Amino acid sequence: MIDDQVIDPTTTKAWKALEKDAKRIQATTLKELFANDPDRASRFHFEGAGISMDLSKNLIDEDVVTHLLDLAHETKVFERRDSMFRGERINNSENRRVLHIALRLPRSAQLVLDGEDIVAEVHATLDQMGDFADEVRDGRWKGATGKRITDVVNIGIGGSYLGPEMASLALRRSISAPLAAHFIANVDGTDTEKITSTLDPETTLFIVASKTFTTLETMTNATMARDWIASTLGEEAIGNHFVAVSTNHEAVQAFGIADRAMFGFWDWVGGRYSMDSAIGLSTMLLIGRDGFAELLAGFHEVDQLFCSAPAEQNLPLLLGLLRVWYDCFLGAQTIGVMPYSSDLARFPAYLQQLQMESNGKRVDRSGKALSYQSGAIFWGEPGTDGQHSFYQLLHQGTKLIPVDFIGFLQPLSGYHASHDLLMANLIAQAQALAFGRSAEEVAASGVEEWQVPFRTFTGNKPSTLMLLDELTPKSLGTLVALYEHDVFTQGAVWGIDSFDQWGVELGKAMATSVSGALTDESVPLNYDSSTNAAIERYRASRRRWA
Ligand code: F6P
Repeated sequence: MIDDQVIDPTTTKAWKALEKDAKRIQATTLKELFANDPDRASRFHFEGAGISMDLSKNLIDEDVVTHLLDLAHETKVFERRDSMFRGERINNSENRRVLHIALRLPRSAQLVLDGEDIVAEVHATLDQMGDFADEVRDGRWKGATGKRITDVVNIGIGGSYLGPEMASLALRRSISAPLAAHFIANVDGTDTEKITSTLDPETTLFIVASKTFTTLETMTNATMARDWIASTLGEEAIGNHFVAVSTNHEAVQAFGIADRAMFGFWDWVGGRYSMDSAIGLSTMLLIGRDGFAELLAGFHEVDQLFCSAPAEQNLPLLLGLLRVWYDCFLGAQTIGVMPYSSDLARFPAYLQQLQMESNGKRVDRSGKALSYQSGAIFWGEPGTDGQHSFYQLLHQGTKLIPVDFIGFLQPLSGYHASHDLLMANLIAQAQALAFGRSAEEVAASGVEEWQVPFRTFTGNKPSTLMLLDELTPKSLGTLVALYEHDVFTQGAVWGIDSFDQWGVELGKAMATSVSGALTDESVPLNYDSSTNAAIERYRASRRRWA
């Protein structure tokens, strides 16, 4: 583990001040806060990198923001941010640098580490991806039987899947080649079966995307896909139908993929921070190298903002501090993320890995157990769908659930009247959550007395409203980078390592052991009684169909 001084945030002056603030804020309401401050909307409105962020409907006042910024100073968030940008090994438990920010540095930038020019390496890979994307997109890259590629299948899971899949949907309108993207992630064979039963092997290209090239799900699915191509087109067709994205050169070679069809990246890119690395190859195939460059430019703009905007106007910093406020001082357990755009349908799922794999930690960077909450649960669905399912609980339930609302000012379809309605719903939901409808108002509207409690909305439910102009590669880049640095800020305050993910290892090891016991009945069952019973049940079924 690297030497790193961890500051317990609860020992800071700001923490104590925030505990007092929480009492004051819990004794007031958003209605009162707005009534007492005619400038509240503009006071808590922030703008940067094309994102308009309205924090005014959050349970905060100026003192809270001041003390949150003090907390950032006292816990050395800015120093840690600068260490990340300098390429220091801030991923303590894995002794690695954290340099996803280098993936979007412009060609003219310089970042030399251990004598290697990182920027030159990044751009060499981007050029390799770009040349390959050009070939596939204009039909020069052909399948083994001479047909052009029409379908690209990304085989990968977690960070090697969620970002590319989210982007393929979000950037649907920017697709500029006759290509369709598909994704196989789950080890559930139905995913691969769907692909092999609907696509034509002659026109299908597989991208095996795996940082480690050892992930069980991905290697199982890749082997099945490989068998499909070999059995339909012959073993020699593999070279035309498979490429790989990985940091594991040897394993890619062993799989039978040639060097020229391998796109590399580096151990300093965490899986959940990799959609802008070669893991984004499927995205580049769809939107082209120029579109991908725009996406990177969006990321970079927010990186710059995070590095240089004054703290009190630093969007990702403020967003991250707000999470800490809700988590540690107001007792919120979850954050809802509601994009008012069907094209961002997979954004909440993408964010879940980004946020929860990063900050779902129980010890700080020195290994000491945390005495405070960390890592909220992120979840969500696009609006307006969610309004007709779980918003009931947001409006009238007993839990505190801050919500991020995300909307686009420009319509994403030709149906402009629909966009008016979509945006009306977005704005109205934030308003209804904040201000509710009092019992007096309900009664005054003529509702029978006995029904009043059921139809009353207490309000005081916080939300953040983020508005962007249009959903483009660039704005998607800004949105993702905003959340990446939001995650960073939270982790830095909490003193945790946001860049490891040891928590996924135990389940993997146990699955390997259980898998042996399921398929080999001579393996004695020495697990707990519940696990043994589940295995017995499965074995009995398996005897009938295996
Ligand atoms: O098991 C979790 C994880 O390691 C994620 O962090 C990662 O994004 C995913 O698995 C996939 O890993 P790989 O890209 O190495 O296949």
